[in-house]
Amino acid sequence: MENTFDTIVIGSGPGGYVAAIRSAQLGKKVALIEKYPVLGGTCTNVGCIPSKALLDSSEHYHDATTKFNEFGIEITDITLNFPKFIQRKNEVVQSNNKGLEYLMKKNKIVVFEGVATFISKNQIKLKKDQGEEILAFHNAIIATGSKPASIKNITLDKDRIISSTEALSFRVQPKSMIIIGGGAIGVELASVYARIGTEITIIEYEDSLLPNMDKDLGKALFRKFKKDNIQVYLGAKVTSVQNLENRTLVKFINAHGQEEEKISDYTMLAVGRIPYTKNLGLKKIGIQTDNKGFVLTNEKLQTNIPNIYAIGDVIGGAMLAHKAEEEGTFVAETIDGQKPFLDHNSIPNVVYTWPEIASVGLTEQELTKKNIDFKTSKIPIAAFGRARAAGEKDGFVKVLAHPKYGEILGVHIFGPRAADIISLGVTALVYEITDLDMTNISYPHPSYTEAIKEAFLEVSGKGTINL
Ligand code: FAD
Ligand code: NAI
Repeated sequence: MENTFDTIVIGSGPGGYVAAIRSAQLGKKVALIEKYPVLGGTCTNVGCIPSKALLDSSEHYHDATTKFNEFGIEITDITLNFPKFIQRKNEVVQSNNKGLEYLMKKNKIVVFEGVATFISKNQIKLKKDQGEEILAFHNAIIATGSKPASIKNITLDKDRIISSTEALSFRVQPKSMIIIGGGAIGVELASVYARIGTEITIIEYEDSLLPNMDKDLGKALFRKFKKDNIQVYLGAKVTSVQNLENRTLVKFINAHGQEEEKISDYTMLAVGRIPYTKNLGLKKIGIQTDNKGFVLTNEKLQTNIPNIYAIGDVIGGAMLAHKAEEEGTFVAETIDGQKPFLDHNSIPNVVYTWPEIASVGLTEQELTKKNIDFKTSKIPIAAFGRARAAGEKDGFVKVLAHPKYGEILGVHIFGPRAADIISLGVTALVYEITDLDMTNISYPHPSYTEAIKEAFLEVSGKGTINL
């Protein structure tokens, strides 16, 4: 007899597991299908969590070797135990996997390990290690995520020409690495390995690092990377990458139109990610995708088959874990007959370099392009006691607001703890709080949030106190 569920979720990443939990909380009989033996998807296993674990470890090492002395802490003979550096990351990932298993049990979600393929508008074929099973559903949620993209004529061989997945699990620390792409993955993994002494080169096609964010952020990061001895080529076009057995050779045309070549231990491609829909059987049941393979959905995140929804990286937009999570909750509540809130324009974007980078709303370049009037303020972090106490010299908070109404249009931060501070900007944007209103609340002293308060003070026209 067929096993029937109210909702079947395919994929256990942040989109899928949140959708499953919220559906179960709303009283549904839920199944979650994951092809890997561990839960958590890209984010937990080869994305957000392992990269942040390595970022934190490398930051401790970097601080110990370059910063502690300034604080009167003198340590000699600091060495990096690279296998332990990687092992700790694995343990962090495993503890997250266990946490997810617990949450599935707690919420009585039935977890199936295997590959899910749609065979009709109400049935999925589950292919397990041993045998197959048919599961039936009233509603299904596709949350199958994404995989690394490549570039024309370049093969990701996973040996020397690698993606972020392999770069998170080296056995031996590379002496040098070329990173193609100066987006989120490129700059985060450049930070990890440069801090522990790997020679890093970034080759970026556009004329700025993080080209999709406010240009001031990319410029500030470029200056910081220069100080950190990371070599960055902007406006450069890679023409070939060769695996030379134990090294790689990259040929590219630099911004001046000259041909250059560079040899390194590894070359990592970080040029974006593409939707993962392999084996899903979308064509068989007629689910529409766009020309890049992203599953098409309407404003309720329904596919063209009304009882099948799609969320997260597989539908495109910002490829962020918290965007996938919000969509998971949104779809579970929509299926439950509620009218949930979801605002894609106020989803923050954070990059975990040091200082951190965080952004919400429109960039200065987007406002200019859209012909929207704006006023702006830019406050240096170094002006505040908290930053001086911590020895943090780099960074700023930039606020863009409407000149007439004081509506906050964008907040862009390059600075310590930007990932946490940005939530103030998100709140202002979602609830349309004006710049003046944001100056009327109290910000703890000393804290990095004082910089955002001063940015609101300046942009509102009230004037700064500490500058
Ligand atoms: P995924 O997390 O990709 O999960 C999809 C799951 O579906 C996978 O486990 C897959 O095995 C499974 N699956 C696919 N097809 C099938 C099938 N047919 N049957 C069964 N199972 C299937 N985002 C952030 O917000 N913050 C960060 O700090 C951050 N850091 C990142 C660092 C790196 C190196 C990378 C690569 C990404 C990072 N991201 C980060 C992006 C984030 O990982 C993704 O946006 C997020 O994982 C998307 O979630 P998802 O649920 O859509 O899909
Ligand atoms: P990305 O889209 O952020 O950056 C890709 C970069 O590669 C762009 O700057 C692009 O101009 C460049 N590029 C493209 N083709 C190129 C070429 N042929 N030569 C040189 N450069 C080229 O994609 P990335 O870094 O691969 O990350 C994938 C996704 O994962 C992103 O959408 C991001 O949102 C997510 N992610 C999020 C993180 C976070 O939230 N902290 C961390 C890491 C990834």
